[in-house]
Amino acid sequence: MTRILGIETTCDETSFAIVENGKKVLYEFTLSQAKKHEKYGGVVPELAAREHLSNIKSLLKELHDMLVKYSVDYVAVAADIGLPPAVKTGEAFARALASSLGVKLIEVNHVIAHVWGVWLDKNIKKKPRFPLIGVVLSGGHSVIYEFTSPVEYRVLGSTLDDAIGEVFDKVARVLGLGYPGGPYIEKRAKEGDEYAISLPTPLKDDTSVSMSFSGLKTAVIRTFQKYKEKVEPIYYDFFVSDLCASFQRVAFEHVAERVERAVEMTGIKTVVIGGGVSANQRLIDILANRLVPKDIKLYVPPLQYTGDNASLIAGYAYNLI
Ligand code: KG4
Ligand code: ZN
Repeated sequence: MTRILGIETTCDETSFAIVENGKKVLYEFTLSQAKKHEKYGGVVPELAAREHLSNIKSLLKELHDMLVKYSVDYVAVAADIGLPPAVKTGEAFARALASSLGVKLIEVNHVIAHVWGVWLDKNIKKKPRFPLIGVVLSGGHSVIYEFTSPVEYRVLGSTLDDAIGEVFDKVARVLGLGYPGGPYIEKRAKEGDEYAISLPTPLKDDTSVSMSFSGLKTAVIRTFQKYKEKVEPIYYDFFVSDLCASFQRVAFEHVAERVERAVEMTGIKTVVIGGGVSANQRLIDILANRLVPKDIKLYVPPLQYTGDNASLIAGYAYNLI
C-alpha cells in the first residue's frame, strides 16, 4: 500500500489530498479563489500566489491532523506548468513538507494528471485500458494525446491559438456573465437554440488533429457587439442564450471531430476526457453522439475531478514512483 499526499496550486485552487494506490481518495481539501478573481474577469497571478499562501496557512492544522491519521510515503506537487508565482508557492511548500516528513518529492505535470479523474471514480469499476486517447480541455490547455501507458504519451494535436476554457472565460466576460465563464455559458446555453446564430467552423479545410478557438471567439464577440443594441430589449436574454448555445455547439463539434480523427488515425477505440471544460454536459453528449455508435468507449470523470484538484496529482503520481 502506497499513500501519496498531493498538492495543487497551479491556478486558483489551493488543494491538498491523500490518495492510496493511485485510486482511493482518503482525504481531500480544496479552497477555490475564483470569487477573489471574479472582479478582474480572470486569475491575477500575484494575487493567486498570495491567496495560496494564506490558504495553506489556514489549512495547516487540518493537514497536520490528516498526516497523523494517514502517514504518507511521498509528497507530490503540480510542478512547472501553470501561473508561475502560483506554481512556485506550491512547489516551495511541497519541498519543505517532503523534507520535514523525510519522504521523496514527486513532480507532476498537471496537464497530464487531468486525465486521471476517471481512475478516482469509485463508480467506474472497469477502468480504461491502455492504449487510449486522452483529451485535456482546460483553461490553459486543449490537447489530444495518445497514451500507450500512464507515463508514455505523445501529443497528437493541440490548439494552435487559445485554449478552449480561456475562450469560454473571455466570451462570458464580454457577455457580462461572470467568472469562470464555462458554467455560466453552459447554463445560458440550455435556454438557447444551438442553431440560431451561424458561426464559422474552426479550421474547416484542415485535416489534422489540431484545434483552434480564437477565430470562433472573435466571431462570437463581433456578433454580440453588432447586435446587442439592435435586438429589442425583451429579446435580449434570448439573444444571449442563443449565442451561448451556438458558440458551445460549434466549439464542441470541432473538438469531437478532432477526437474522432485521432481515433481513426491511431485505431485506438478508448477515449478519456479531463480538464475543467469536461464538466460540460453538452460536450459529453456531443462526444458520445459521435463516438459511441462507432463502438468507441468514452470515459468521463466525475464532476469534482474535472478541474484542478490535488487528488489528480496524488493519484497520477503513483505511476511515477
Ligand atoms: O482544468 P481547470 O480547472 O483549470 C486549468 O487547468 O485551466 O479548467 C478551468 C476552465 C475554465 O476556463 C472554466 O471556464 C472551464 O474550465 N469550465 C467549463 C465548465 N466548467 C469549468 N467550461 C465549459 N463548461 C463548463 N461547465
Ligand atoms: Zn488544470
